[in-house]
Amino acid sequence: MDEFESARADLDRYLQQVGELNARYRAGGIHVRVPEALAGDEPLEDLVRRLLPASSAALAGAARSLFFSLPVAFDPALSVGPYLATVDRAPDGDPYRFIDMGAMIATHALGENDPGVVEALLREMACVTSRYAHSEYQTALSLRLKARLDRIAPAGTPRHFMVNTGAEAVENAIKAVLLNRVKTSGEPDGGFIVSFEGAFHGRTLGSLAVTHRKKARLGFPTFEWPHVSFPALDGSDRENARREERSLKQLWISWSRVFSRKRTGGGRASAASSKRSTGSWRGRARDALAFVAARRAEQSADLLKRSRRVAAVLVEPIQGEGGVRMTSASFMRRLRLLTRIFDVRCCSTRSRPAGARPGAPGRTSTSICRCHPTPWCGRRRRKTACCS
Ligand SMILES: Cc1ncc(COP(=O)(O)O)c(C=O)c1O
Repeated sequence: MDEFESARADLDRYLQQVGELNARYRAGGIHVRVPEALAGDEPLEDLVRRLLPASSAALAGAARSLFFSLPVAFDPALSVGPYLATVDRAPDGDPYRFIDMGAMIATHALGENDPGVVEALLREMACVTSRYAHSEYQTALSLRLKARLDRIAPAGTPRHFMVNTGAEAVENAIKAVLLNRVKTSGEPDGGFIVSFEGAFHGRTLGSLAVTHRKKARLGFPTFEWPHVSFPALDGSDRENARREERSLKQLWISWSRVFSRKRTGGGRASAASSKRSTGSWRGRARDALAFVAARRAEQSADLLKRSRRVAAVLVEPIQGEGGVRMTSASFMRRLRLLTRIFDVRCCSTRSRPAGARPGAPGRTSTSICRCHPTPWCGRRRRKTACCS
């Protein structure tokens, strides 16, 4: 008897379904489809209970879970492209389908059941079912992945480090930048990390310190580090520019004054000097290195010394916790310039590189930039904390 017979039959069925679904999708045959009555005035929960009973039953069966956000259960096997299939079926037997505007919080940039992704994952089945990456035990797959990361990393990125979850990536990035400060500043502790209002970086104690929502941190012993405003792009150009300016100033002030050990007296940053430091950075600095060197030369020795208390700035270019909030590329460039002038690490986290799956290893990558205004990350499966 072949002990894999039934698994093989299931896999064949699934692959055939993936092929057919993709053919339908590519021929324009898949559309959003929800029960018509879903547009009614009843509360959404009531509508879902009545119109999507299979979803409701699946959710009720897992009711002891801590978090539910959407009151719908999806069927990954029948989802395709940006269309999430529900476990509920329409009268003709096809699932209802929602369009996933958030690409599963950016985990599915290539869409659901993309044939290339399915094929690549199945090829590595042997590695996926066993432990396939660990610092002690290297495998052909983990080494191939690391070699690939080495190849695509921008020059000047000497190290990468693999972990399993977003929170772990952030946690290790925090440790890396604090350790860097201990080693380079002569201080006994690594200083602090500045993050942004609205930020979410995971549920471990360390990542809670850089997560903004007070409720998430309530009662837990974590660090009280500063959060500055996030310049979300949702106003006029003028308003956006004003917000960006304000964020940069808050950042600059947070390390030049608020967290200074000497809070008063000489060397305290004045509003005028902060304006000088950030106000003239609009547009592209043609020669970033020369610009950074010139601005650095303008700073007082005392301020440069105090800025060494700042281990890093941690930013999500696209926030997801309170709705999708983006900032501009120009803000990211100016943020990078500011951190380079003061030799502060700039950690950028993005939720979930393409190909990674919720509930499985590999959703968030964190990069720590030293030399490069453009952060980078590995693309597939594992989280990376790329340290330079
Ligand atoms: C930006 C960001 N960082 C970290 C995390 C935590 O990731 P994980 O749930 O994999 O620990 C998330 C999760 O949503 C996230 O969006």
